[in-house]
Amino acid sequence: MSLFIVNNSTNFLNLNTNGPSETELIGQKLGQLLQPADVVCLIGGLGAGKTAFTRGVGRGWGTTGRVTSPTFTLVNEYSRPQDGKILFHLDCYRLISEDDVETIGLDDILAADGAVVIEWPQIAADWLPNDRLLIEIEVIDESTRSFQIKGFGPRSDDLIAQLNDHFS
Ligand SMILES: Nc1ncnc2c1ncn2[C@@H]1O[C@H](COP(=O)(O)OP(=O)(O)OP(=O)(O)O)[C@@H](O)[C@H]1O
Ligand SMILES: [Mg+2]
Repeated sequence: MSLFIVNNSTNFLNLNTNGPSETELIGQKLGQLLQPADVVCLIGGLGAGKTAFTRGVGRGWGTTGRVTSPTFTLVNEYSRPQDGKILFHLDCYRLISEDDVETIGLDDILAADGAVVIEWPQIAADWLPNDRLLIEIEVIDESTRSFQIKGFGPRSDDLIAQLNDHFS
């Protein structure tokens, strides 16, 4: 297992992964911790591993279906059998203006009783709660990714503390 902590503080955690399955493991742990109203922003270039990470989140959340890229659908919903709660998986890559953000119904998604993971969240920044988890993914080489996880409030800081406890 090469997944390791590079750095951490109360609102920051840096984990490196070697291969998509390790990335999915971090996502899976986060998915177990997420609750409705939590928002996770994934930033990183094409092929960084945002969808791979979210596949793990889905597994941890308890969805039975395999998480696939919402690049064309824009929003995918995954409910879990135990309580029907939904994990929303958004991809804002194709949105051009803030009107597009309204068109996909982000307000309704954020008000719904589910957790939210967003790829390419930059254009939607004004809609998002301050207390959100920001995960920046950097491509180090073909199989290595660096995950820089930042919190911006009590809830996201708490999620970081729990991830830190788990992976250290
Ligand atoms: N450590 C790693 N973590 C995640 N993916 C990795 C890793 N190493 C290699 N990969 C490869 O990188 C690719 C990541 O693809 P993925 O669809 O998750 O990217 P993405 O960030 O969602 O891209 P896009 O912006 O196009 O949606 C996959 O082909 C995966 O096999
Ligand atoms: Mg993707």
